[in-house]
Amino acid sequence: MAKMTIQDLLRKKMERRKITMLTAYDYPFARIVDEAGIDAIIVGDSVSMVVQGLENTLPITMDEMIYHTKIVSRAVKDAMVIGDLPFMSYQASVEDAVRNAGRFLKEAGASAVKIEGGAEVAGHIRAMTRSDIPVMAHIGLTPQSIHRMGGYKVQGRTEESAKRLIEEARITEDAGAFSLLLEAIPMGLAKRITEEVSIPTIGIGAGPHCDGQVLVLHDVIGLFERFLPKFAKRYVNLRDEALKAIKIYKEEVEKGIFPSEEYSFK
Ligand code: KIV
Repeated sequence: MAKMTIQDLLRKKMERRKITMLTAYDYPFARIVDEAGIDAIIVGDSVSMVVQGLENTLPITMDEMIYHTKIVSRAVKDAMVIGDLPFMSYQASVEDAVRNAGRFLKEAGASAVKIEGGAEVAGHIRAMTRSDIPVMAHIGLTPQSIHRMGGYKVQGRTEESAKRLIEEARITEDAGAFSLLLEAIPMGLAKRITEEVSIPTIGIGAGPHCDGQVLVLHDVIGLFERFLPKFAKRYVNLRDEALKAIKIYKEEVEKGIFPSEEYSFK
């Protein structure tokens, strides 16, 4: 398979074939996600919560995001790699956005970036796109706005806020975004937005009518224990499997069972 491009994603929307995305942050898991044939990997700022053990996504730095994105790019053959612009890497100015987004392509091997926000970042999206940096916009629940939103809450429940989100979707498309991530919004609204824009919509907690889906990998494989959002499906519990294996190892070492001759040199 050749490396996935933004044109391939657009084609999938036109042909009504679902787009698959997951997050990944390190080499072994990025290899597995790529081998499974997932279309795109978002190196999300969620790494701060699921890998770094932080309370929310605000503290992670550009350098840390570049570090993780580089590792993922090194592991991946076919999936598109999308770097996630962290908090305060773009809010202060359009120039910050272009420079920091450029780092994801120039230093970290990503093919695109993701930015949280709608109308307020339209200028940023336009400037990045003009600089040949493909941009995925992210509206609905935007975790970097946790303090303004008062927590991780479903957005767009009132007719007024739904209309605003539809307008934001149009604005980000007009600004040049190649794709639109919809997080934690009612499925009917996600359907309206998906029909309204010609770019692919990727949902997380936005129901089945989006052009594609994304989840946080550590939710899918059971490696994040603090909470599981209602919209996330855990397909396997690797934490339990790892815990079992490590307990057996400990017991075998303590009882002198490991290492046996098989694992020793003569
Ligand atoms: O940081 C993240 O993991 C995200 C997901 C919604 C893709 O933004």
